[in-house]
Amino acid sequence: MEKAYDFGMIGLGVMGRNLLLNMADHGFSVIGFDKDEQKGGSLEAAATKGTTVKGVTSLEAMVQQLAKPRKVMMLVPAGKPVDDVIESLLPLLEKGDVVIDGGNSHYTDTLRRVNYLSPKGLHFMGMGVSGGEQGARTGPSIMPGGDRDAYEHVRPLLEAIAAKVNGEPCTAYMGKDAAGHYVKMVHNGIEYAIMQLISEVYDILKRGLGLSNQELHETFKQWNEGELQSFLVEITRDIFLQKDDITGKDLVDVILDKAGSKGTGKWTSQDAMELPVAIPTIDTAVAMRTLSGYKDERVQAAKLYTSEVYPVQGDKAEYVKQVGEALYAAIVLCYAQGLAMLHQASADLKMDIPLQDVVKAWRGGCIIRSVLLKDFYSAYSANPSLSNILLNEGIAKIMKAKQASLRNVINLSLIHHIPAGGLMSAIAYFDAYITERMPTNLIQAQRDFFGAHTYQRIDKEGSFHTEWGK
Ligand code: 6PG
Repeated sequence: MEKAYDFGMIGLGVMGRNLLLNMADHGFSVIGFDKDEQKGGSLEAAATKGTTVKGVTSLEAMVQQLAKPRKVMMLVPAGKPVDDVIESLLPLLEKGDVVIDGGNSHYTDTLRRVNYLSPKGLHFMGMGVSGGEQGARTGPSIMPGGDRDAYEHVRPLLEAIAAKVNGEPCTAYMGKDAAGHYVKMVHNGIEYAIMQLISEVYDILKRGLGLSNQELHETFKQWNEGELQSFLVEITRDIFLQKDDITGKDLVDVILDKAGSKGTGKWTSQDAMELPVAIPTIDTAVAMRTLSGYKDERVQAAKLYTSEVYPVQGDKAEYVKQVGEALYAAIVLCYAQGLAMLHQASADLKMDIPLQDVVKAWRGGCIIRSVLLKDFYSAYSANPSLSNILLNEGIAKIMKAKQASLRNVINLSLIHHIPAGGLMSAIAYFDAYITERMPTNLIQAQRDFFGAHTYQRIDKEGSFHTEWGK
């Protein structure tokens, strides 16, 4: 009898291949399927000596060689390809088998697939995987959700291959149904927001304060050695040193100011509107990527409005310090929004997402990993059902210490005509969140005035209507 493999992978693109190689390095026997024969061959060729790795071009052959209950993961493009794979797997699987979608699928699709496969006795798990190609090979952050029993079948494997922080794996059970993909979606929303904030800060430092790429590198290097230490700050530090092979110039300067997207940030914003929950910095990040696409119009408008940036005068070093603090505060506010969204979605969609475990899984391996996650972990350890990290005393201390810099830097950006929508939305969120009395009483009055929508009072229970102006 042929060997029964521990784990099967459908789709041997770079992510699928690297995850399999990672599993094999941790002692699991793995088999991968791809119609493209070359991919199976290169999987086997890349395997570490002494590990058990096989590539096949027949799905049937792969499934037949898996130990039961079978554990199969697909890493194929989100959407129809996932449904197609499920259909071709169905006749080959048996009750109790576990099917994992490790791509960036929309959580509503995952939910639909869970409900489709569950009556057939199959466990479908949506699983977020973050960390890119390198992370998949050496230790990603893994966000599995779905059936708890199914999770227990794959848990040892996931814990073995995930990134480790203080010896602890950056993976945990994220909750029921589509929770894994929901958590990954919000992870990406936060990723969009932090990237937007870093880009604004770069603009302020470069066009406002006149920092060279070398100085930008040094600034980000210094930041990454302190409280801003994180994957995105770290790679930004290195981006400023990269030379262009074609022109010999700094590569960052020859890259067009137009960013693409695969849509996970947009999904986060769309779903936040549905819940509803306020995530204005993520919304702004999505909007700014969209606006970046209007390059031709921006060029035209820049001429019309002679939109030039006025260089900042004054103590450069002091400003750089403030910009770092502003970035730090705004990043805290991005996490606050994303985590508050998860808190509400968990309740509304009955996913039971353990936020403490979410931030634990995000401490390493993923794109939004940062030393800050340690503080959020403490916040959720003190109160696992915390609705917003801003309500935690430790986080409040950070915000109290840094908010002045955030305000100063926003002032600077306004005066010097440097767009800073992400930073502004972060402070606007903060100011609204910490305001005991918002001006929304006036909006209620207006709604009742023109539409008899009624209003509540501060001194009595019930709904009231006034014949305004009479
Ligand atoms: C990750 C990334 C990964 C991917 C995104 C980028 O966690 O490893 O988020 O999933 O890079 O798809 O998304 P956009 O193309 O939308 O920027």
